[in-house]
Amino acid sequence: MLPLKAKNVSLKNRYVLAPMAGYTDFSYRKMCGEYGAGLVYTEMISANALCYNSKETFKMINETYKDTDKLCLQLFGGDVEIMVKAIKILEENSKYDFLDINLGCSVNKVLKQHAGAYFVDKKDELENYITSIVKASSKPVFVKTRIGPNDDHITIYENLKIFEKANVSLVAIHARSRKALYSGQPHYDIIKRAKDSTYLPILANGNIGVNNFEDVLNYTNADGVMIGRETLGYPKIFKDLIDLEEKRELTPTTLKNQIQDLIRHINYMSQTKTDYELSNIMRSIACCYFKGFSDAKKIRMKLISLTSKEQYLSVLNELLSNACDEQRRNNI
Ligand SMILES: Cc1cc2nc3c(=O)[nH]c(=O)nc-3n(C[C@H](O)[C@H](O)[C@H](O)COP(=O)(O)O)c2cc1C
Repeated sequence: MLPLKAKNVSLKNRYVLAPMAGYTDFSYRKMCGEYGAGLVYTEMISANALCYNSKETFKMINETYKDTDKLCLQLFGGDVEIMVKAIKILEENSKYDFLDINLGCSVNKVLKQHAGAYFVDKKDELENYITSIVKASSKPVFVKTRIGPNDDHITIYENLKIFEKANVSLVAIHARSRKALYSGQPHYDIIKRAKDSTYLPILANGNIGVNNFEDVLNYTNADGVMIGRETLGYPKIFKDLIDLEEKRELTPTTLKNQIQDLIRHINYMSQTKTDYELSNIMRSIACCYFKGFSDAKKIRMKLISLTSKEQYLSVLNELLSNACDEQRRNNI
């Protein structure tokens, strides 16, 4: 298994779980880590919320003490002084290996704060922002960004020069523009050119999964791949990526395995979440485990109205006792 090694970054492999708000809490990071992910990311953490002592945000960062895999904590915010203060809070109240700065989020709520992908075409502001952050952090700093504000204005090449000068340690590039959000084909050609133009390690991101990761790695020459949506309900993807890299036959992803994984996921989640929080989150995640199976709809109907861990476990254990060895269909 090829590792990812750079100046101050060393990962056991090139497969990274993307940050996903509402999904990549301790329990999901643990699932992906157990299946071999080389690095896992937290959900994005608001610097403002940290500085205003938000109880919920402190709970998110405190969870990191339970993490056992290589962890990258992602922070976002528009005000550099607040970011610097937040880093101090993080260093005193959480445990992580790398700090990532969100320069890719394109939702209005974040752009309005002059945070996330706001910076992709603000060269002068970006330089001061990222330089101050790297200076303030005792951990290596990563950035996760996009190719530019729109497809006619690609800024990643010049921004990489800023990241180099600021001593950033790794750059994850979502191969879409700020304007594109999640639509359209990702521009892997731009990642390839970006990789050619810099000595910084690059993670390619955007629509990557078991069917194309090798092509993307070969084509772009990126140092690794960062995967988001393809992992949802399929944490075993990390084992499959490693098996494919090592030319081993894939172990089947059966309905039985998926139910067992969901049970494990729920048990981990219950270590840090109340029944109310757990069932709110599970309402969107649980059904992902059944994508690609013929009974997906039927199972979703059984899960949709559950309100506690015990209810989930009871329904899932019953499903497990009748589960067949049907295998998950990829590419759905
Ligand atoms: C539900 C959801 C939440 C996300 N939350 C974050 C986030 O907190 N921080 C971030 O940088 N990107 C976030 N993203 C973007 C992903 O990290 C990733 O860049 C994007 O989904 C493209 O990769 P994919 O095609 O592998 O999913 C989120 C994406 C989704 C679908």
